[in-house]
Amino acid sequence: MIPRVKAYYNLTLTRKSEIMADILQKVVNEARQGEAFSPFESDPNVFKKRFYIESYGCQMNFSDSEIVASILHQEGYGATKNYEEADLVLLNTCSIREKAEQTVRNRLQAFRKIKDSRPGMLIGVLGCMAERLKAKFLEEEKLVDVVVGPDAYRSLPGLINEAETGQKMVNVLLSRDETYADIAPVRLDSNGITAFVSIMRGCNNMCTFCVVPFTRGRERSRDAESIVGECRNLFERGFREVTLLGQNVDSYYYTSASGDTVNFAGLLESVALISPLLRVRFSTSHPKDITDDVLHTMAAHENICKYIHLPVQSGNTRILQMMNRTYTREWYLNKVNRIREIIPDCGLSTDVIAGFCSETEEEHQDTLSVMEHSRYDMAYMFAYSERPGTLAERRYADDIPEAVKKRRLEEIIELQRRHSTESYLADVGKTFKVLLEGDSRRSDQQWCGRNSQNKMVVFSKSGTKSKPGEYAEVKITSSTGATLIGEAVS
Ligand code: SAH
Ligand code: SF4
Ligand code: F3S
Repeated sequence: MIPRVKAYYNLTLTRKSEIMADILQKVVNEARQGEAFSPFESDPNVFKKRFYIESYGCQMNFSDSEIVASILHQEGYGATKNYEEADLVLLNTCSIREKAEQTVRNRLQAFRKIKDSRPGMLIGVLGCMAERLKAKFLEEEKLVDVVVGPDAYRSLPGLINEAETGQKMVNVLLSRDETYADIAPVRLDSNGITAFVSIMRGCNNMCTFCVVPFTRGRERSRDAESIVGECRNLFERGFREVTLLGQNVDSYYYTSASGDTVNFAGLLESVALISPLLRVRFSTSHPKDITDDVLHTMAAHENICKYIHLPVQSGNTRILQMMNRTYTREWYLNKVNRIREIIPDCGLSTDVIAGFCSETEEEHQDTLSVMEHSRYDMAYMFAYSERPGTLAERRYADDIPEAVKKRRLEEIIELQRRHSTESYLADVGKTFKVLLEGDSRRSDQQWCGRNSQNKMVVFSKSGTKSKPGEYAEVKITSSTGATLIGEAVS
């Protein structure tokens, strides 16, 4: 650990102690990375103060909460799962649809009572709603003390210190280069087996319906070495699956200080090579950016899961153009064909928006027919929700009546339900390699885990010696619309 030992003996005592302090700090940091502690440790001598955090929205927000936990941990804060005993209550918010924002506002009401009885408790709003509403949040919700946007979490300790003196604090500055690359996230609600790893932040795509480019700022890719380092560290601590996260992972592109470049296919391969026992997933892929190179990399490595989330949004080219998705119906269908060609057993899911501005019945039918062609295993389906400040809000009238949006959405959901049932039924009789995550929700006599295609598999413990974090071969005997049921085969 001490480089050039001979030279070390000739140093002054002060320099020696500086070097030793440095080494000690590294050991402490490594131990922290290795999570030799629990953020929920309840001993009051270990943590003087406690924070409680609730996350809404996409996986990136949940991943950000772990960065926030790490920043607070460095300041001596422990976590609690009970907001009534917290000194600091944080809501990491989402703005994607009006309903998401309403959920957060309702949740704030629950904290009002506690705050009335414990005025010293601070309430902070983080994430996309903080970024969208900025200081207005403090005017609208009087009980909020701190408002912090997604790129400003490093300033959280300073803001909390100020807020403790009674000052309301806001920092919603967006950054062009913040990726929190050097911060080792503290895993909250972890099963110790699967983890999210952020590989980029922001989005440059400007889909007209979407608030994300405004709340998350410009796209930037995180240092590839720090990503691979974090994944390797997770593997060494027993984790067996990492999901690489970004709003548009296929546009990942990092140039190192020495001028080397890494694209998403390269990054995916580097993570896959950490160990054949470490599974790799990723989300989300934009249909315009996912390349054959990525598909071939997936096909070449058994441990890169055969599953792609490929949001279509609409099956009609005119609507796709209005949405600024930059692909046509045909381009999307070709992408699906290409995926099926290169990775025949690939799981596929999507996002769909029903009732976007000016959408006709025929155009809605086009969405249903893309679904028929793609045969998604799963889909997230939404009625269009106009978001203030987006390009669609400025350019187009939100003119599809709510009842029509709702009916179209129901048709989409109904079709997807049929496709999911068919897709799960088609797996009966097949054998899959399943990574065990823990007890099934229904019974402690059953394990649950996912197959490569991201389908949940439940099977009896009696037929296997495998434990969580290990793999089992499971033969599927039946299915519900959303779970495969099977038995372990040796
Ligand atoms: N980056 C991802 C999507 C992130 S937002 C991508 O481009 O695929 C997740 C999903 O929310 C979107 O795919 C879209 O289907 C939905 N969504 C976003 N804005 C919406 C809005 N204004 N109304 C309804 N659904 C919306
Ligand atoms: Fe939003 Fe489009 Fe970016 Fe996805 S790609 S986050 S939908 S702007
Ligand atoms: Fe929501 Fe922000 Fe994610 S708006 S979906 S939390 S990027």
